[in-house]
Amino acid sequence: MTASVNVPLNSRGKLAASLPAEQLAEITALFEFRRTGYSLDAPFYTDRSIFNIDMEAIFGQHWIFAASTAELPEPGDYVTVDYGPYSLIVLRNDDGGVNVLHNVCRHRGARVLTEAAGSTGNLVCGYHSWTYSPEGNLIHASAPGETKFDKSCFGLKRAHGREVAGLIFVCLADEPPADFDETAKIFEPYLAPHDLSKTKVAYQQNIIEEGNWKLVMENNRECYHCDGHPELACSLFPTWGLTEGLIPAHLEEVWDRNKQAEASLEERCRRYGLPYEVVEQLDTRIAGIRISREPLDGEGESFSADGRRLSKKLLGDLPDFRLGRCSMHLQPNSWFHFLGDHVITFGVFPINEHQSLVRTTWLVADDAVEGVDYDLEKLTYTWKQTNLQDKAFVELCQQGAGSPAYEPGPYMKSEYQVEAFINWYVQRVQEHLA
Ligand code: FES
Ligand SMILES: [Fe+2]
Repeated sequence: MTASVNVPLNSRGKLAASLPAEQLAEITALFEFRRTGYSLDAPFYTDRSIFNIDMEAIFGQHWIFAASTAELPEPGDYVTVDYGPYSLIVLRNDDGGVNVLHNVCRHRGARVLTEAAGSTGNLVCGYHSWTYSPEGNLIHASAPGETKFDKSCFGLKRAHGREVAGLIFVCLADEPPADFDETAKIFEPYLAPHDLSKTKVAYQQNIIEEGNWKLVMENNRECYHCDGHPELACSLFPTWGLTEGLIPAHLEEVWDRNKQAEASLEERCRRYGLPYEVVEQLDTRIAGIRISREPLDGEGESFSADGRRLSKKLLGDLPDFRLGRCSMHLQPNSWFHFLGDHVITFGVFPINEHQSLVRTTWLVADDAVEGVDYDLEKLTYTWKQTNLQDKAFVELCQQGAGSPAYEPGPYMKSEYQVEAFINWYVQRVQEHLA
């Protein structure tokens, strides 16, 4: 794990405090009177002021997912990630750590790096060529015969960065919440056997969804809509989120198969010493998490039509392929599937109140060869289809939230995790506004 040096950037509640008192009172009331067990009022999905508060209270305060280490394996490799108005450079440094720099030139504010990913030595702004070291120090500003100024005062601003088990997180707060240490301790043992440090990116997909970031996260927290995912239903048990007594008639047979597969997977995990227990702390801690290992249908190995492996190379030091999926949901902006043969990371990068970038990255063992060990089309097929279906669902909800006829509706029992996510969100913002 590494941590960047942080320069204080924002003060708590600055943006919220700048709102006219009447408007802030209205927004505060929306949070205060949110009806438990019901979807949120429309402004949470459509209002620019609430989006700005989300950026400050959620994305400006918490540890947020940026990338996997496989996306920047070598010194000088970087990705740029945007969260609402923020743009960050996440760069692998010579010491093997990560530098997190605000992608805002200290001359006149131009974006310094404009590509989503790449490799660089020094960072040169394309406007007037101010040049920064990978640590963000301003090392050159051509100013023929002009103003003298202290270059050391004009380095790129830095944010916090840390790696846990091959995942990179950033934090824009002056003082990151310490609770993430505990959350990291929860998920690290689940991920370690998959050894993300020995993976490579097989494919990355960027989709812009016409939906508020919370709708994207809500959609991911339930399988009530899983009839809409025929490709995924080949391997993912559509009974996810259901409990005894909630099983509809058409899923009874699947439920029985799922229970048998669970018992068999649990036995295998115990034998191999892999953590199996469900940890569900979505709204009971600051860095909300759910992690579990769950069986897959068919052969139980991967997200394919028959559940068979999609890459021939096992990850890390895993004992065999038939390990189902270790799935993690990490608030506020990510979820993951860790399988025996590959890993899929999903990150949500809010653009504005009605648009979000959803980035999906497929990782395979670093010695797996495309066309030999895996077929890229087959590897990515299920989740490419599923992502498009989810995008459509999210967009239907965004459209609904924009209608004067919209009013919050009740969550079903199988949507209890959606409620937990919303409860977490409301609590975090209220704490920030208090
Ligand atoms: S804005 Fe970057 S060098 Fe001028
Ligand atoms: Fe879905």
